[in-house]
Amino acid sequence: MTVHIGASAGDIAETVLMPGDPYRAKWAAETFLEDAKLVNEVRGMLGFTGMWRGNRVTIQGSGMGMPSLSIYANELISEYNAQTLIRIGSCGGMQSHVKVRDVIIAMSATTITSPSSGIFREVNFAPTASYDLLAAAVRAAESRGTPTHVGGIYSSDVFYAERPDLDEQMVRHGILGVEMEAAELYTLAARHGRRALAVLTVSDHLQTGEALPSEDREKTFGDMVEIALEAAFT
Ligand code: HPA
Repeated sequence: MTVHIGASAGDIAETVLMPGDPYRAKWAAETFLEDAKLVNEVRGMLGFTGMWRGNRVTIQGSGMGMPSLSIYANELISEYNAQTLIRIGSCGGMQSHVKVRDVIIAMSATTITSPSSGIFREVNFAPTASYDLLAAAVRAAESRGTPTHVGGIYSSDVFYAERPDLDEQMVRHGILGVEMEAAELYTLAARHGRRALAVLTVSDHLQTGEALPSEDREKTFGDMVEIALEAAFT
């Protein structure tokens, strides 16, 4: 047990998928895992451990934003020995060729600040995905025929942004989408020598204002979960 995770030692697998939404963790565990068991419900941040194609995997909610993800990722890494951490979540599309429902595999995650900014002082650290996971996720997405983009994303601290000029610079520099967690996950994985990746579904678009209707969400999010699982175990 840790401060925020009630699981016993050994209840958490070495591979952890991390959706922001605890109910998405429940849905993904019930849909894709065999013998899924609830291993955490502290603060309602549900986590489940089960089997996928003979491999043990945990799906643990991270909450929204980097401070929340940082709590869960730190405890998973330091107290439960998680080795592979893959964020699965939604993001806002930022480029016109990136469409709602597409998948983004995040090679790097730009930030203004993250919970780790303080330790870097004047350095602009570049949070980067683990290449083997990234390459395996790209192969999985290609073999499924899922429309997928691979490149940089922007991890923001705000959903309700007040700086349109920042979005403009992100778009201008080829950033594919915006979300709120990946940069800290990549930084923590780098610090502790673990593997990390973010596989994201474009749920809305900053330029067109289009948003994924709720009835389409399950199927589209399912592609992302399976890409993440295949990446973890190949
Ligand atoms: N901003 C930040 N995070 C998000 C967005 C967004 O527009 N869409 C989905 N996650």
